[in-house]
Amino acid sequence: MEDKVRARVDEWLEERRRKGLERETVCFSSAPELLNLSNNDYFRLANDERIKASAKTAIDRFGCSSSASPLVSGFTPPHEQLLEDLLDWHGFEYGMLWNSGYAANQAVLSSLPKNDDWILADRLAHNSMLAGALKSAGRLIRFPHNDLERLEELLVEGAEKGKTLFVAVESVYSMDGDLADLLALSKLKSKYDFVWILDEAHALSWYGERGEGLAAELEVDDQVDILVGTLGKGLGSSGAYTLFHDEFLKRFFTNACGEYIYSTFFSPASAAAASTAVSILSEDSASCQRRAGRGLSESFRKCLRSMGIETSEGDSAVVPVVLGDSRDVLEARRRCEEAGFRVGAIRPPTVPKGTSRLRLSLNATLGMENLEGLIHVLEGV
Ligand SMILES: Cc1ncc(COP(=O)(O)O)c(C=O)c1O
Repeated sequence: MEDKVRARVDEWLEERRRKGLERETVCFSSAPELLNLSNNDYFRLANDERIKASAKTAIDRFGCSSSASPLVSGFTPPHEQLLEDLLDWHGFEYGMLWNSGYAANQAVLSSLPKNDDWILADRLAHNSMLAGALKSAGRLIRFPHNDLERLEELLVEGAEKGKTLFVAVESVYSMDGDLADLLALSKLKSKYDFVWILDEAHALSWYGERGEGLAAELEVDDQVDILVGTLGKGLGSSGAYTLFHDEFLKRFFTNACGEYIYSTFFSPASAAAASTAVSILSEDSASCQRRAGRGLSESFRKCLRSMGIETSEGDSAVVPVVLGDSRDVLEARRRCEEAGFRVGAIRPPTVPKGTSRLRLSLNATLGMENLEGLIHVLEGV
């Protein structure tokens, strides 16, 4: 190994370690005594018997792997069925499946914007969108989080300069749990000409009459040009999708994106599991759970605020507990775990400096009584 490379890497790692920012992969085996509030399984579908049964049936018929990229022979009947189910669920005309939300966002944002185009992205938009935008030939301009006045200024300026404009936002921000103002964005969309890319990763299952997301709930979905959804969160599976109203987008991404063309497709079993998730989330009983989950989120946030804890507004499943210092967050996570709660410890650069936090993910099977022990620990941090 070249010594210079080792020295450079060692120095970089040491700096991260000193600041309490070094990341490590730790095997998590779901201990029954721990209540897991750290994942994104908002409807607890990953272990649902109906979902597991459909995955097992697909394994028996199609094996454990798609064994090829989608354009070769990896796009199997369960994938085809899933795409049909997703189009029907969302009421979109065209769609594609992807191996992950990361791949989908990166592919869309790196391939579509060309020279001189402006990509206007919320400052807190997911890393996959920013990574894609930075790889593209366009220019990435980040506007302050949820600051639509600033976005409008940029849209005006871009239009005056004759730029082709893209706007990239999430409906529920993954680390803050707050919502984008999709109604205001749809008004901007009626006023200005831009390509609207909306990532619904953390809104699926939790919002929408049938769990199909916030754009549908607010009836702005016909304005969204590219809707990105993930299957590994509220749908309890893995993989992702993009939906469009225009066929040319599907044809373009199918031909332009290495993430799609040159990667073994996600498994038929995951596709079958996601199809079953769509049908479960569309049931009336899921609507009741959805209402209860959102009610719980509001009550829990109110309770945190009454204890002087900083959190975000709204009723999403993602509840941040902002503590500021990274080491305090690691200590708080340890104390939560001692009390029986697995929570996420989120530190820079995932979130801005000085805003390290616990990230609590609620799910639709919980009630306030399940969170009492956690509230007790949080009172002490
Ligand atoms: C908002 C958002 N978009 C995209 C992704 C990536 O999705 P996936 O986990 O399927 O790669 C994530 C994942 O954490 C996310 O939070």
